[in-house]
Amino acid sequence: MTDIGIAVIGTGTMARAHAYGYAAAPLLWSLPARPRLAVLCGRDAARTERAARDLGFGDHATDWRRAIERPDVDIVDICTPPGTHATAVSAAAAAGKAVICEKPLATTLADAHAAVAAVEAASVLNAIGFNYRRLPAVALMRAMIGDGMIGTPRLWRGTWLSDEFLDPATPFDWRFDRELGGSTVADLGSHLVDLAEWMAGPVTGVCAQSQTFTTSRPRPAGGHAAVTVDDASSALLEFGGGLRGTLEVAKTCPRRPCDFTVEVNGTDGTLVFDYARLNELRFGAAGDPDGLYGMRRIRAEEPGHPYAEHGWPIGQGVGYGASFVNQAGELLAAWPDGPWTPDLRTGLRVQQVCAAIEDSARDRRWCPVPAETAGTPGTGTAGPDFQ
Ligand SMILES: NC(=O)c1ccc[n+]([C@@H]2O[C@H](COP(=O)([O-])OP(=O)(O)OC[C@H]3O[C@@H](n4cnc5c(N)ncnc54)[C@H](O)[C@@H]3O)[C@@H](O)[C@H]2O)c1
Repeated sequence: MTDIGIAVIGTGTMARAHAYGYAAAPLLWSLPARPRLAVLCGRDAARTERAARDLGFGDHATDWRRAIERPDVDIVDICTPPGTHATAVSAAAAAGKAVICEKPLATTLADAHAAVAAVEAASVLNAIGFNYRRLPAVALMRAMIGDGMIGTPRLWRGTWLSDEFLDPATPFDWRFDRELGGSTVADLGSHLVDLAEWMAGPVTGVCAQSQTFTTSRPRPAGGHAAVTVDDASSALLEFGGGLRGTLEVAKTCPRRPCDFTVEVNGTDGTLVFDYARLNELRFGAAGDPDGLYGMRRIRAEEPGHPYAEHGWPIGQGVGYGASFVNQAGELLAAWPDGPWTPDLRTGLRVQQVCAAIEDSARDRRWCPVPAETAGTPGTGTAGPDFQ
């Protein structure tokens, strides 16, 4: 069996999650080639060396540009803050490597376009990290909608509530910086927008509001910095065909850790996914006998369900990590010819919706969302430089 060399850029939470996915995928998926953690790239040599050892990489590097060009690297996996993504994507594509990039694709539409242009010009496989699609219950929800189990979808609803930004003493870092971190709309909202369009089709217009409650934060080295991202945002969504929706993201909700819910109401039924019970899907069918009024809980691990063959015997369930194992497994199973989905063009499309939400909140008006992402308006730049 050949192997596939992986370079990961970034040594934080997502580097760990992706390394976990590559390590576990061969145990649960039948793969044409074995992933090999070739090199971990970070800015601080000592920290990167330690992380590389802990996560099982064969090597570490502080010069990510040279590392991704190594002949033993086939895939460049980008796990750095969003403002750095376009630069890394473009360099990886220019080196002829396949690209996996964490969400959101970029912090500006121009950078998102540049990233897509780079991978498409180089004809390299590319994927965006919308890992929640690969949770069995979320995938089952989408499959049931596609199978007509709720009739014609009419309303889509998504919320994502956390308390990550609640404490004003939490020090300033990239997440509070619009240029490097994007926004809460793009951070949490990109997952929800991806799921919305995946389940219900293209969003055609948005009307949004945003608020930043803590407008400056202490810098770790002293002094304060202005917060340039939203703490909380919500939006009305208009889809085609009369379908309507709402989306709410907030990082200032006491005692809400990562409470993410998606609900779809159709002409004939309702489906509800609640991340706190991620192995289950609630389903109510309008046609059920009156005596069964209410919603049943489906265990999303029956052998016919999505990803069941890559999980454990029924009743054991999965957790957050399964989304990364399934992501790695699904992408590597398609090696080397693809296709890979969702790809960076999907990331660009989601970015367009997120940008419209931010425009709408700023201008206090409904904003249309362009129907498609084809073409690369203007920019050919690769995004800001970073080390
Ligand atoms: N899919 C998911 O479930 C999920 C969850 C969390 C984060 N993310 C995304 O993954 C990416 C990385 O997030 P994370 O949680 O791993 O972040 P993190 O802060 O834990 O790690 C970021 C890494 O990037 C490096 N880095 C490179 N350039 C940097 C710069 N200019 N400023 C700061 N750090 C820099 C840091 O040294 C660090 O190694 C982001 O795009 C984020 O939105 C995705």
